[in-house]
Amino acid sequence: MTRIAVVTGGTRGIGEAISLKLKEKGRHVIANYGGNDEAARAFSARTGIDVRKWDVGDHQACLDACAEIEGQFGPIDILVNNAGITRDATIMKMTFEQWDEVIRIDLTGCFNMAKACFPNMRTRSWGRIVNVGSVNGQGGQIGQVNYAAAKSGIHGFTKSLAMEGARFGVTANAIAPGYIATEMLSTIPDNVMEKIVAQIPVGRLGQPEEIARGVEFLTSDNASFITGSTLSINGGQHMY
Ligand code: CAA
Repeated sequence: MTRIAVVTGGTRGIGEAISLKLKEKGRHVIANYGGNDEAARAFSARTGIDVRKWDVGDHQACLDACAEIEGQFGPIDILVNNAGITRDATIMKMTFEQWDEVIRIDLTGCFNMAKACFPNMRTRSWGRIVNVGSVNGQGGQIGQVNYAAAKSGIHGFTKSLAMEGARFGVTANAIAPGYIATEMLSTIPDNVMEKIVAQIPVGRLGQPEEIARGVEFLTSDNASFITGSTLSINGGQHMY
């Protein structure tokens, strides 16, 4: 049986690697994206993966998109809540808009998508939800009170969802990536980047593929007794 997997933010960065890995392992992948049509088209042409545009921060858009996907391909078995943005600034400079936007997309987006997918997973007694958190949700970071709050929220959200799904064969786990070599790092000044890499015991940035392998495992049948956990993949940057 081919499992249907939805990956939010699944056409670029870590999400692209996750979509590719799930496809490689035989899942039917639908990759969501929020804005960059050109990148999504190129990704779809390159990989043959179906792409769909909607805003994960929009509750109704998530319900509509998931209903459409289920109508076309069948029930969603696997949800990877990967979509996320940064709007970094220290609290002295951060605007309410920067706070709101990050919470809406990074955290409320996970709720919106789980709300759309969880009921059918529960009814069918099988489901895998993986939420992408962050080392900065675990440890905090200068310039990220919004992002760290959202990502930290994801970890609590995951544990509660895991408790609700456990009796029904639906697992919920989080991955907490460290600093991964993607476009998201492009806004970090060089001198700050040097300080960050110096804090990573393995001495380098991670690769998107290194996160995708963890996600693939948590969405597989092999991970049936793992729920409510956080898999930290960060080169040793955060160890507790
Ligand atoms: N680690 C160590 N030192 C840091 C730091 C960090 N992450 N961020 C800032 N600093 C230091 C700076 O080096 C600087 O120190 P000095 O005065 O001694 O030079 C001081 O704090 C002030 O920093 P800036 O001069 O850069 O202040 P700014 O107001 O111009 O910019 C900022 C603030 C926007 C937060 C900028 O420093 C920045 O972009 N920092 C990086 C934030 C970050 O790590 N974002 C992660 C993005 S990737 C991601 O989020 C994915 C994930 O899950 C890991």
